[in-house]
Amino acid sequence: MLEVVIIGSGNVAQHLIQAFNKSNTVKVVQAFSRKRELLFPFLDSSLVINQYNQLITADLYIIAVSDTSIKEVAQKLNIQNKLVVHTSGSSDLSVITPHNRRGVFYPLQTFSLSRNVNFTEIPICIEAENNNDYQLLEQVGFTISDNVKRIDSQQRKSLHVAAVFVCNFVNHMYVVGQEICNENNVDFKLLQPLIQETASKILELSPSEAQTGPAKRNDTTTIASHLRFLTKKNQSLLYKTVTQSIIDYGKKL
Ligand SMILES: NC(=O)c1ccc[n+]([C@@H]2O[C@H](COP(=O)([O-])OP(=O)(O)OC[C@H]3O[C@@H](n4cnc5c(N)ncnc54)[C@H](OP(=O)(O)O)[C@@H]3O)[C@@H](O)[C@H]2O)c1
Repeated sequence: MLEVVIIGSGNVAQHLIQAFNKSNTVKVVQAFSRKRELLFPFLDSSLVINQYNQLITADLYIIAVSDTSIKEVAQKLNIQNKLVVHTSGSSDLSVITPHNRRGVFYPLQTFSLSRNVNFTEIPICIEAENNNDYQLLEQVGFTISDNVKRIDSQQRKSLHVAAVFVCNFVNHMYVVGQEICNENNVDFKLLQPLIQETASKILELSPSEAQTGPAKRNDTTTIASHLRFLTKKNQSLLYKTVTQSIIDYGKKL
């Protein structure tokens, strides 16, 4: 049995613990949290610590804390020459102090506490400084996911930037779309089948093939009428910027 310690009790830590709890080959033997009680639904309270000097020996230590705190937390771990990884898409491997063996275990998904996820479908991007550690991370990854990939720091950064576009920005568009519906007294739910089909069709078509709308058609009359309709500055700015990007992209093809 591979023994894992999880540091953190946020979105990723909670989802990872729940995924490992289903495994027969990887066991979470301890977790660290400044708010221990957050992990009591998933782990026996005796396994949850809030003092670094209580850390026990394990095969792997996964730091799943906010990006800005990874370095500080890694420095506080009073362990030597152990395999320590973080779960961040944007942080370099070097944020982990070199008195331990370093790696990355980045699950490429958006996690929220209130949503269950199917870990088997989530790509896990791994990186390690030596081959033995890489193999251990691969083994741990495959116990919870069918999709484990070797991704170096540069590739991971590009995936993370792309993820901001395809997830965070797209979600912000939902926020703006809902705001426009609310302002005009129409039910945002009417757009749900459209939202679902937009996401589904790029499983079969390339994103450029799937692109539709006034900007794609360079329909200047509709674009001008939409811009007259939008009264909020942030809405018209977004509309203009994305419209221009779609038009410019079309010219390149
Ligand atoms: N959320 C996602 O969708 C997602 C997806 C893939 C990867 N990631 C990566 O996974 C990591 C964790 O993200 P998350 O979404 O789980 O974050 P989160 O929900 O905001 O939780 C952050 C955790 O970090 C702990 N923490 C922050 N500063 C700390 C410190 N100085 N000492 C000890 N603990 C500290 C927090 O503890 P307190 O509650 O005590 O403050 C909390 O448990 C990040 O590197 C993130 O980039 C996130």
